[in-house]
Amino acid sequence: MLLWAARNRWLKERLPRFRWVHRATRRFMPGETAGDALAAAAVHQAWGVDGVFTLLGENLAELSEAQVVADGYHTLLDEIAARGLDVEISLKLTQLGFDLDETVAMEHFESLARHAAETGSWAWIDMEGSAYTGATIAFYERARARHANVGICLQAYLHRTPTDVQRLLAIRPAIRLVKGAYDEPRAIAYRSRPEVDGAFLALSAQLLEAVRDDRARFVAATHDIALIERMTRVGAAVGLSPGQMEIQMLYGVRTDQQRRLAKAGYDVRALIAYGSAWYPWYMRRLAERPANVWFALRQALPW
Ligand code: FDA
Repeated sequence: MLLWAARNRWLKERLPRFRWVHRATRRFMPGETAGDALAAAAVHQAWGVDGVFTLLGENLAELSEAQVVADGYHTLLDEIAARGLDVEISLKLTQLGFDLDETVAMEHFESLARHAAETGSWAWIDMEGSAYTGATIAFYERARARHANVGICLQAYLHRTPTDVQRLLAIRPAIRLVKGAYDEPRAIAYRSRPEVDGAFLALSAQLLEAVRDDRARFVAATHDIALIERMTRVGAAVGLSPGQMEIQMLYGVRTDQQRRLAKAGYDVRALIAYGSAWYPWYMRRLAERPANVWFALRQALPW
């Protein structure tokens, strides 16, 4: 139901008008402005947890909006550098006008990748619903041919992902592996938790070996601590030190574990989202853990 609500236009227009809904989003984002994200990143950096910024927003109505999104990220990259923060950026291609004009989306992405390289940062591509998977990977392959500091998110729940990883390994990719956040049909995706976890671990094992052989950068993006423990054991078994293993979690989720893992020497980043177009993203976060719905509803109560 929550994933349905994430796509529902009527709710998308109305729910964000309520003040308590704004309060509830603070569970997953420090605020709506870039300044809020920068301040949160500084706090995390003091804990040894670096950052990844994402400006919330998905499909655009007009291509001109893509320029505004790109400009926002350019300003952000300058601010990150000016404040001496170790923060990368991650964006959705549909935010750059991918649906409307792929060439324009590529121009924006490439200019951001160049800017990120100048400031010692990276530009990542989020993975959206399965209608975009093939085209997003093809886009990434073209971008990777021209830029070393670009990465892509892949979803372990999709049956196609092992084949995608195999093909991408030929171009020394940077891959952020997640379980997958969309409501995909059984024909193309695993739906049970043991199957998704099994796929995640098998892909991690392959990618950790690639890291050891300097054939890839690999980030395991999950809050599943048991899975992280299994993944790090595999990493150690193939000869990686904690500092060679990258873990990412969302801002506000399992912060204690983020700090613990950073202290243990793992390369940890928190994905910090900001912006006003948070509705579908926030609903997907609620869907991941229904207990969060209770937290959200409590914000509506006066006590
Ligand atoms: P799982 O859902 O099994 O959760 C494990 C445990 O973690 C839960 O039992 C719970 O305790 C805790 N937990 C998980 N989610 C929580 C939440 N929202 N609030 C509180 N506790 C929670 N997806 C995608 O399709 N495309 C993308 O580009 C990305 N990008 C991305 C980047 C980063 C850095 C992260 C961490 C995640 C994504 N995702 C994503 C989302 C991902 O696909 C997945 O939906 C979530 O990470 C939830 O799955 P877990 O791996 O955490 O495991």
